[in-house]
Amino acid sequence: MRQDPLDNLKEEGIEESLISGIETFRQTYSLEEKWQKRVPQPDYFYYGKDIWRKALAAILEGENLLLIGPKATGKNVLAENLAAVLNRPEWNVSFHINVDASYLLGEDTYNGKEVVFRPGPITLCAEHGGFAVLDEINMARNEALAVLHSILDFRHVIDLPGYERIAVQPSSRFIATMNYGYAGTRELNEALCSRFAVLQMPIIAESDLHKLFLHAFPDMKPDIAEQFILPNSS
Ligand SMILES: Nc1ncnc2c1ncn2[C@@H]1O[C@H](COP(=O)(O)OP(=O)(O)OP(=O)(O)O)[C@@H](O)[C@H]1O
Ligand SMILES: [Mg+2]
Repeated sequence: MRQDPLDNLKEEGIEESLISGIETFRQTYSLEEKWQKRVPQPDYFYYGKDIWRKALAAILEGENLLLIGPKATGKNVLAENLAAVLNRPEWNVSFHINVDASYLLGEDTYNGKEVVFRPGPITLCAEHGGFAVLDEINMARNEALAVLHSILDFRHVIDLPGYERIAVQPSSRFIATMNYGYAGTRELNEALCSRFAVLQMPIIAESDLHKLFLHAFPDMKPDIAEQFILPNSS
């Protein structure tokens, strides 16, 4: 069985106030049976104590996160670990060019008998107190960004024309990721950035890379692992 990331956090020496904040969050927000399978079981723990502390403090304060960093800095691994440690179901949205408002929120569809509303990932996440990973948010087109604005601001509602307004549940969080400077990406405007706590994701530290190696390859001798993590001297 995989380890509960809460145990890893204790091993890493994360302070007691954050640990008890996690425990209170878990007790406060129950999880519907139906969504239990959506709680991630990460293959990898995110290593980086400083980022963990900042991310947890923000999430426990009710904030949403924007993780900015170069490739392979563990942005998705951290997002997955956060949903896991707080025991929330996760919805993942990759903001490629075809993602529009009806994809995110849902649309009417014919089920063979009648027209019904099929909710999109953002609606489901908001309604059931989940964590939405908004992947590569700087690839999103304006229409998709506009949807996020009203959900992320103080109103905390989703207004679906022709339907009831859906309240964003208090345990819902939105964790966006972005790389800077890739082809097809752009700067996020200030209005959107201001709706997130922004974390600059560092490249994994040598000591953490060592731990990651030994976790991934438990049979590897520590001095062999050492050779893989030496900085590139060329
Ligand atoms: N700090 C870290 N802790 C644990 N794993 C890490 C860390 N940094 C990088 N990795 C490893 O790097 C790989 C890529 O991680 P991930 O997909 O989360 O990166 P990313 O920042 O989302 O990258 P991209 O910008 O390409 O989407 C994973 O195998 C992950 O385990
Ligand atoms: Mg990623």
